[in-house]
Amino acid sequence: MSVRRITVLISGGGSNLQALIDARDQGRLKVEISLVISSRADAFGLERARKAGIPTSILQQDEFPRRADYDRKLAELIAVGSPDLVVLAGFMRIVGPEVLQRFAGKLINLHPSLLPLHRGTNTYERAIKSGDTEHGASVHFVTADLDAGPVISQVRIPIDAQDQPATLAARLSPREHQLLVATVELFSHCPVECTHGVITLDGETLKQPLVLDPNGFF
Ligand code: GAR
Repeated sequence: MSVRRITVLISGGGSNLQALIDARDQGRLKVEISLVISSRADAFGLERARKAGIPTSILQQDEFPRRADYDRKLAELIAVGSPDLVVLAGFMRIVGPEVLQRFAGKLINLHPSLLPLHRGTNTYERAIKSGDTEHGASVHFVTADLDAGPVISQVRIPIDAQDQPATLAARLSPREHQLLVATVELFSHCPVECTHGVITLDGETLKQPLVLDPNGFF
């Protein structure tokens, strides 16, 4: 089934959420953003959602001493938006088993590295320190292992000799926005499935992640 409704999970600025909203408003992305859930009450992304008329929910972990309770509540909230796809766009919480089970195959995450390189945090710093010549971002299916699910798509950018984490992040950011839009657009056009770690696009096995071209398409 192609994706018609998405729910977006955020924790911060929400620039990637904004890219989805803009693509929707421009008619490129033919999906309804039915709900935005933030793990922080002060996330600027919530403002972006409200301005765009998208319902919002806040779910802060410190209100739930037990991880499993947070996870259960998150699953309940996600279900409110009846999404075909749940997009983690800067959501800085680990998704627990209840959410993973209930939305199996429907959870994707944007991560700022060329996975499987640099899972976790501080990816820009680690790419520079490792002497990598390229950095980038990946969209992958979410599994129980952090940033380790099957990768659907990537964007690559060169690392310059004078790059600092901040300059690299600033250069990647607009490309990351394009990557997320193009990937959600893909889900809206054709069935993208993930079974036993294997991704299929319209029934065809995806052997390598799709790579974004300079114009923001696959
Ligand atoms: C993005 O760079 C995204 O790749 C990263 O958080 C940022 C959110 O920016 N995600 C992760 O690090 C997840 N591990 P935004 O709030 O402006 O969209």
